[in-house]
Amino acid sequence: MTVVAPAVSACIERRARLAARMEPGAVAVLATAPETLRNGDSDYPYRHDSYFYYLSGFAEPESVLVLVAPLGEQPARSILFCREKNPEREIWDGYRYGPEAARIAFGFDEAWPIGELDAQMAKILANVPALYYALGHSAALDAQVSGWLKAVRAQGRSGVAAPASAHHLPGILDEMRLLKDAGEQSLMGRAASIAAGAHARAMRFTRPGVFEYEIEAELLHEFRRNGAQFPAYTPIVAAGSNACVLHYNQNNSQCREGELVLVDAGCELDGYASDITRTWPVNGRFSAPQKTLYELVLQAQEAAFAAIVPGPPYSGMHEAAVRVLAAGMLDLGLIDRNKYGSPEDAIADKAHLQFYMHGTGHWLGMDVHDVGPYRDMTQPDRPSRPLLAGMALTVEPGIYVRPAEGVPEEYWNIGIRIEDDVIVTADGCRVLSGDAPKGVAEIEQLMEKH
Ligand code: GLY
Ligand code: MN
Ligand code: MN
Repeated sequence: MTVVAPAVSACIERRARLAARMEPGAVAVLATAPETLRNGDSDYPYRHDSYFYYLSGFAEPESVLVLVAPLGEQPARSILFCREKNPEREIWDGYRYGPEAARIAFGFDEAWPIGELDAQMAKILANVPALYYALGHSAALDAQVSGWLKAVRAQGRSGVAAPASAHHLPGILDEMRLLKDAGEQSLMGRAASIAAGAHARAMRFTRPGVFEYEIEAELLHEFRRNGAQFPAYTPIVAAGSNACVLHYNQNNSQCREGELVLVDAGCELDGYASDITRTWPVNGRFSAPQKTLYELVLQAQEAAFAAIVPGPPYSGMHEAAVRVLAAGMLDLGLIDRNKYGSPEDAIADKAHLQFYMHGTGHWLGMDVHDVGPYRDMTQPDRPSRPLLAGMALTVEPGIYVRPAEGVPEEYWNIGIRIEDDVIVTADGCRVLSGDAPKGVAEIEQLMEKH
């Protein structure tokens, strides 16, 4: 599937920023993802490696990017290794750039056939102070690096030195990827709009008797007809009690009168993910207990949004959502009011975890659970890190009520999650997925019309 590459200038700028953070004269190596056999002669749909793509914009398999950091008068160099042109293979599999066309189109300084990688690396790594790559991520790359180092050391008697240290490249790249530039933000906005449209379509389609997989088909249709190459993850379409299974994705039950259906589905557009959850009534109208819990989750999400602003720690939004949810659980008798005098007491005893057992969000970007530490690893107690403008994250509170003694029966088997995608701005956050219907009245009106 054709992936539209990020602007060449954005990738060139990212390569320059990475090179500036490396030791002078050091070399970074990034391999893209391998193709993976599904069965017989049939591969899984190909998906590039996110780090490689972030720096190259190049989506072909069997590619490696090598970056040489500047040293004194010598400028930085970026070198692509990729598949050669091959008229026979191109008849079967389609166009491939080949090194020279790729070099020009993607702004590399040099490009070589991938078959030259080992021979060239033995030269490129000669007298280089340090090597940067994803340590221990791929056994194949680890083995290859070890081969290159041996080849460089073998030249030792002619005065050639091998790199004296290795650094974990994602350590630098994760921090860069955490802050989304304008192009990334706009792409993520489009990925979110497409997924929001898919949720609206799925709501219009839903009625008692449909199967979860039919709703899934509506989502996938809407993703693909809008140009999204893939679902960003396997969609969850969970009717009734299935919604209380957090990672349910069998999607093979029939949606019944009186149930809610929880749909967690996002798409991947040109390498960027959206991740949206909505929960709606199968028959188009919330029952009173469903509405009560739904509005509690909405209120928790509002509290989480209000906590997203540059400066305070990432964990603030979770704490805000948990506070609202725990207070609601007490009010509604889900949590024993005789045992806990306040939401804080209940939270301190982790009582809320019976009904809300996951975090309130995660970084979002090229990966649906995007890279980057959530804590400040430089401090001994590793506190939650402060939010910064340009970070992208999901906000996804929920409530999941499994039948249990002491839990009011009217709430049994109700599972609700509401998930939106946001970008941290200078003074708050911008919701990217706001087109997905969310208010009780808004959902009921939309479903009534269909
Ligand atoms: N869809 C995956 C998640 O919400 O984290
Ligand atoms: Mn999510
Ligand atoms: Mn999700």
